[in-house]
Amino acid sequence: MATNTFLPPIMKAWTFSQPGTHRQVLSQTTVPTPNLPTGDEVLIKIEYAGLSFGDLKTMGLIPSFLRTKNSVPGTDYAGVIIAKGPLAPSKFEIGTEVFGTLETDSKRHGTGALCEYICLSTSSNNIVAPVPSNMTLQEAGAVAIGGLMAMLICKNGGIKEDCGIRMLVHGSSGQCGTAFIQVAKAMGAKEIVATCSTPNFDMVKRLGADVTIDYRKEAPFSEYLAKEYGDRKFDIIVDTVGAQDVYTHSPAFLKDDCVYVNIGDYTNGLFRTVFHWFVNLYWPQWLGGTPRRFIMFGPWETPKVIDPLTKLMADGKIKPVIERTVAFDQVLEGYDVVATKRTRGKVMVKVASS
Ligand SMILES: NC(=O)c1ccc[n+]([C@@H]2O[C@H](COP(=O)([O-])OP(=O)(O)OC[C@H]3O[C@@H](n4cnc5c(N)ncnc54)[C@H](OP(=O)(O)O)[C@@H]3O)[C@@H](O)[C@H]2O)c1
Repeated sequence: MATNTFLPPIMKAWTFSQPGTHRQVLSQTTVPTPNLPTGDEVLIKIEYAGLSFGDLKTMGLIPSFLRTKNSVPGTDYAGVIIAKGPLAPSKFEIGTEVFGTLETDSKRHGTGALCEYICLSTSSNNIVAPVPSNMTLQEAGAVAIGGLMAMLICKNGGIKEDCGIRMLVHGSSGQCGTAFIQVAKAMGAKEIVATCSTPNFDMVKRLGADVTIDYRKEAPFSEYLAKEYGDRKFDIIVDTVGAQDVYTHSPAFLKDDCVYVNIGDYTNGLFRTVFHWFVNLYWPQWLGGTPRRFIMFGPWETPKVIDPLTKLMADGKIKPVIERTVAFDQVLEGYDVVATKRTRGKVMVKVASS
C-alpha cells in the first residue's frame, strides 16, 4: 500500500542527452521525482549506486533519437523501500533494504540509478531483492550485476559440486571477474586460473583463484596458454576483457566441446568488436572459423538467479570488492576510474546525503 510519504517534486540526478564520453555529456541536474507506486511497484530511496563500464558504453553508443532526453545512467543500486503499491509482494515492506539491477531497457528509457528515487515493478526484469542481514546496503549494491552475471554463467556452464570443471577467468580483478571467481568457487568449480596484474594476485587468490597469471608478463598471452595448458585444457573460459586473440587461439587450450564465454567488451572499438562477434558466432569452420563454441553473454535472464545469488551472499560466500566510494557530486571522477578498465572490483556512489 502506498504511504503518504512526502516526496519533493524534483530530485537530483546525473543526466545526458546526446552520445559522448561521460566528461563530454554527463552533468548533475534535477529531474521530476517518480510518482507514488501503483500495482506491484515499489518506490525506493536510493542510498548507493554502482558505476559500470557498460554505462560508459551505452552513453557513448546509443544515438539521441533512440533514447529519452535527459537520460539517467546507472544499472546497480541499493536503497530502502519508502512506498509500495497494493499488489507488491509482502516481502517488500516499507523500510525494507533492497538491492538490485535495472533491466536493459532502462538504458534506452534513461531511467537509471544515478538519482535519488526510483519506482520499479517487482514483476519486471528489474531486480529488487532484500539485502541479506549480514551485508550493508553498500556491500549488496556492489555485488549486483557482476554477481548476477557470474551466477548465470555458472548455472548455464554446469558448475556444481564435484563437477570437476577447470576454468580460465580472463580479466579477473574487475567487478565481473571478482564476482565470477567467488561464485564459481562457491558453486563447486575444481580449479580457477585467473589473469590480472601482479599487484592484484593476492586479492584474487583470497577470493578463490587457485592459479594467477599476469597477462602483461606472459606475452604473447595466447602462446603462453597453449604452452602451459595444452596438455590439460580448460572446460570453460570466461573472458571479461574481449580478447579476440585468446578466442581464436583457444583450441590450443580449451577442450573440443567446451565454451568460450565473452561478456562483452569494446576494447578494439565498436565496429571491429561487432565484426568479431559476427565472425565468432557464424563463420563456418570450413572457411577458417575457430572450432570452439563462442557465447556473447548478456544479462537478460538475471531474475532467474537472484535467489541463489542472495543465498550465497547470506551464507557469507560472496564478499564484494569495492575499489572506492565517491560522493554524488563526484560521479565524473568515479567514471574516470571505471574508464581505465583497471578497477579492483566496483566503484560505488553514495547517493543519499545522510
Ligand atoms: N554482458 C553483460 O551483461 C555485462 C554485464 C556487466 C559487465 N559487462 C562487461 O564486462 C566487461 C568487464 O567489466 P568489468 O566491470 O568487470 O571490467 P573492469 O572492472 O574494468 O575490469 C577489467 C579487469 O580486466 C583486467 N584487464 C584490463 N585490461 C586487460 C587486458 N588487456 N588483458 C587482460 N586483462 C585486462 C584488469 O585487471 P588488472 O587491473 O589486474 O590488470 C581489470 O581489473 C565490460 O566490458 C563490461 O561492460 C557486461
